[in-house]
Amino acid sequence: MAADNKETGRPPQVVSLPLDTVQRIEGPLRAEIVIRDGLVTEARVSGGMYRGFETILLGRDPRDAAQLVQRLCASCSTAHAVAASLALEQAAGVKVPSAARLIRNLILAADFLQAHLLHFYRFALPDYVPDLPGSSLTARGSQNRNRAIAEQCRQAFEMRVLCHEAAALFGGRMPHPQSIAAGGVTCKPDRAGILGYTERIKRIKDFLSEKYLPLVYATAARWKPLAERAAGCRNMLCVGAFPMDEGGRRFLFSPGVVMEGKDLPFDATLIREDVKYAWFATPPESPAPLRLSGHPSPDKAGAYSFIKAACYAGKPMEVGPLARLWINDVPLSETGRDLAAELLGKKAQTFRELGEETAFSVMGRHIAGAEESLFVAEAIATWLQQLDPADETSAAFAVPLAAEGLAFTESPHGSLTHYMRVENGAIAVYVIVSPSMWNCAPRNSAERRGPLEEALIGLPVPDAANPVSVTRMIRAFAPCPGCAAQ
Ligand code: NI
Repeated sequence: MAADNKETGRPPQVVSLPLDTVQRIEGPLRAEIVIRDGLVTEARVSGGMYRGFETILLGRDPRDAAQLVQRLCASCSTAHAVAASLALEQAAGVKVPSAARLIRNLILAADFLQAHLLHFYRFALPDYVPDLPGSSLTARGSQNRNRAIAEQCRQAFEMRVLCHEAAALFGGRMPHPQSIAAGGVTCKPDRAGILGYTERIKRIKDFLSEKYLPLVYATAARWKPLAERAAGCRNMLCVGAFPMDEGGRRFLFSPGVVMEGKDLPFDATLIREDVKYAWFATPPESPAPLRLSGHPSPDKAGAYSFIKAACYAGKPMEVGPLARLWINDVPLSETGRDLAAELLGKKAQTFRELGEETAFSVMGRHIAGAEESLFVAEAIATWLQQLDPADETSAAFAVPLAAEGLAFTESPHGSLTHYMRVENGAIAVYVIVSPSMWNCAPRNSAERRGPLEEALIGLPVPDAANPVSVTRMIRAFAPCPGCAAQ
């Protein structure tokens, strides 16, 4: 990365956070930052892996997609299965029964909960608590407090097991459920399964409100400057998830857009993949660029990432819990309202009332994940009540000879789009626009940084040898490099 030293006379420091370690999850992600006078002045976030899923799917039976695409990830696999099924259902013109919608919501909800627990307790928390595995903090702090948090981490992983068990009661297994398929679901729920799911979610919900939320707010209060400095592009997108009716009109998280401070309706035609700085050949001009992704081009001059830049109306957009809660202005939990007032001095009834500075901060993103977890866990009761074991769970359909489907849902980490074109009864084009293609995007053709890159600019880095402020910001976005580089 080029950086000059004309203004201050002092040479800038260039820090490269290496592959594999920047996010404590599989999938290489690199962040290269320039630090001048203790502040980040330039940032590049790069995905270092190409996987080829969109190519692997070509020529296959369209019904295979819901299983194969799950292998992109072990943290947001359910959302990929749902999106692939929706895409084929749209192509085939099939409507799934109500019970299938409810079961998909239940599996996806449990997947949201396990992903948020994993993200906060395993990936983020070691940056705030010394003595946790992976922590680079040198200050020791209170041994008793650290031990108590380490014990809570252990409990969080037990809760994560319960999330997987709950999802597997309907999905067959986790993290790659087998039952989500175009036409509905292949499982028939019974009373034992419904009771087993209910009992597990009750225990998880107690943990969320008694442990997870209090720890997130307490961490935000302890590191208050990280709860007070807004950062990022502040354009946000939610494509909608957890349908609440059969007509696709009501969702737990409604689709919506915030662009330059304005709330706008979501327009699916405005999503584009931009490959100017990605190691992909520029696709030929097309009226619908989503349909023509470029082929990998690892020697492309000027490119620096295998992650394509997802754009909406040409703009980078942040996706994920922060975007969903802000766009939908979700009510804060009772626990959250009390803790926000007591620990952060914020009298807020809804997420937006926390204010932009808090919501768009490092800690605001963790608060969003925790609040979203409880919000989703509470919605589960409605779906369980509506689920009748006697109901049909799948609709028969014929694979079309030629058709296309464009589908949207949300993974724990953000907005997900799957596009499928079928020709001669087989997949002819498959395009996935995943959450980390939005959040971890490289620059786009308009030279706009991706949302995470933008959030890093201006960040104070007191110790360039241990840039924990940078890794805190990166981990607040919950990058999923495996999903980002298909
Ligand atoms: Ni993922």
